[in-house]
Amino acid sequence: MTTAAVLTAAGSGSRLGRDIPKGLVTVGGTPLVRWAASSLASVCERIVVTAPADAVGAFADAVAGVSARVDVVAGGASRQASVALGLSALADLDARDAVLVHDAARPFMPVAVFGRLLDALESHDAVIPVLPVVDTIVSGVGGDVRYLSRPTLGAVQTPQAFVWGALREAHARAQAEGFEATDDGAIAQRYGFRLGTVEGDPLGAKITYAEDVEAAEQRMGR
Ligand code: C5P
Repeated sequence: MTTAAVLTAAGSGSRLGRDIPKGLVTVGGTPLVRWAASSLASVCERIVVTAPADAVGAFADAVAGVSARVDVVAGGASRQASVALGLSALADLDARDAVLVHDAARPFMPVAVFGRLLDALESHDAVIPVLPVVDTIVSGVGGDVRYLSRPTLGAVQTPQAFVWGALREAHARAQAEGFEATDDGAIAQRYGFRLGTVEGDPLGAKITYAEDVEAAEQRMGR
């Protein structure tokens, strides 16, 4: 069985306030996309990176020498479109193969979480890492504010693991129907695939703002 990954890095990362794509921003001298690809390579034989269309060459340079077969493709206008383009580059996989979908914006997710996801995939079609929510959460901000029941809430991270046949079918149906979601677990669940959860890790937090890069640099310096 093959384990492959789609690593999304085609966003502009404009909230970081830098003039290069987020995946090329370095922590400890290494680009974020390379941190993420290197850790995926500990469980994946193949990785497809989605990069901004005008930076495919720079991303290919950034991941050169990672110990897996890595292809860099141009991403799309949304994260979901980028994932779909990444999946097309994996068309020759077998239906039972495993695919992780990961965001380069979460480069420090511990490899132990990858193991939990792949183990749980033995009894599910899709598995998402979830962290308990520490803040009280409301919906309807600016209008009809409602309190949500915190004990039942979770924050969803990446990577997310899928049986290839399920992910391929779910994405194709979402595309046909125009269904849009902010992650792939939601797409799999919508089309009836069995969705499981495992415990995520705070180290897999998304790097969004300049302070997140500074905090990661500081952790690295310890
Ligand atoms: O913008 P957001 O934080 O949701 O992006 C999550 C991930 O999706 C990032 O790694 C980003 O590079 C990727 N992305 C992408 N293509 C887009 C938009 C975002 O690959 N068009």
